[in-house]
Amino acid sequence: MLSEVLLVSAPGKVILHGEHAVVHGKVALAVALNLRTFLRLQPHSNGKVDLSLPNIGIKWAWDVARLQLLDTSFLEQGDATTPTPELVEKLKEVAGLPDDCAVTESLAVLAFLYLYLSICRKQRALPSLDIVVWSELPHGAGLGSSAAYSVCLAAALLTVCEEIPNPLKDGDRVNRWTKEDLELINKWAFQGERVIHGNPSGVDNAVSTWGGALRYQQGKISSLKRPPALQILLTNTKVPRNTRTLVAGVRNRLLKFPEIVAPLLTSIDAISLECERVLGEMGEAPAPEQYLVLEELIDMNQHHLNALGVGHASLDQLCQVTRARGLHSKLTGAGGGGCGITLLKPGLEQPEVEATKQALTSCGFDCWETSIGAPGVSIHSATSLDSRVQQALDGL
Ligand code: PMV
Repeated sequence: MLSEVLLVSAPGKVILHGEHAVVHGKVALAVALNLRTFLRLQPHSNGKVDLSLPNIGIKWAWDVARLQLLDTSFLEQGDATTPTPELVEKLKEVAGLPDDCAVTESLAVLAFLYLYLSICRKQRALPSLDIVVWSELPHGAGLGSSAAYSVCLAAALLTVCEEIPNPLKDGDRVNRWTKEDLELINKWAFQGERVIHGNPSGVDNAVSTWGGALRYQQGKISSLKRPPALQILLTNTKVPRNTRTLVAGVRNRLLKFPEIVAPLLTSIDAISLECERVLGEMGEAPAPEQYLVLEELIDMNQHHLNALGVGHASLDQLCQVTRARGLHSKLTGAGGGGCGITLLKPGLEQPEVEATKQALTSCGFDCWETSIGAPGVSIHSATSLDSRVQQALDGL
């Protein structure tokens, strides 16, 4: 087992195009969002496993000796076992969660224990570890925060147990694992996601692991080759929405007006394909005309999503505020509130970006300037930290 401190980060995700249409077999493009979750793992020798999640105010500690004595044969050795509901029930007993434990807290703890016990059980003795996970991502906003959490845990635990090598070489500030190692990280992270969400599509953990942009359609996920990193504003309207209700609303509209709604879904599919084509051509030095195409695609899709009935007054406001400054926005994810993205073209002056952020903030929204197409799960040097990691560590 490794004895050094590990510092890992993984990105969130947004859907660029294809939300809702994907439920009806069309293509969706999901991209890595450079708001990241960070994890610091310190092996220690006090016989405890400590888990702190400062964003949601959680601190848990278990005795390794007690965990070691438990019959965890329900976690099969070696491979990523499917976390069935029975297995999750057994994990609850192991965790000692109180009955009144908040849902987010209990799911985060269960996913951790599942990954810790499953990945580390190959060791002669379970390791004593101190783990802190914190995030720039708001949770419950459809931005893949739980997937980024599972990806960070899987990457750090597999590395500390030497199931995969630490890719960080002397002098590196940051590095990534090989394709084979990323596949293993993704496989375990998917199991963590299943503990949290039951039956997820696997897209969120795939984007967080691989980074960049992914296309998904009917359960098939593939990476886009060399997608550009695009600057965006991500806006959270903070209007709560329920994905299940919104998806059902689109289904009802499709049943009621098949001749009207089916062509909208076909058109959204064509938007995703056109966007994929343009992103593929953009390469290192995107041309202004390519940005114009991306903006037109954003506008058309936003209108289609409104026609599907998943718009919201808050999202209209976001589009108007940014449109008044020559910028183009669309909702991302389920709609009905939630988050939206605004494309920032190169050459846009920083004061203009700041003024737009300010205007959105004064609507009561949260707004971040960030990028999409960001790198996937990465390992950082614990000694030469970039300022973003250092700031977060200082705040712990
Ligand atoms: O729940 P969100 O906001 O991450 O987005 C859901 C995306 C939908 O296409 C509306 C539903 C789905 O399962 O793909």
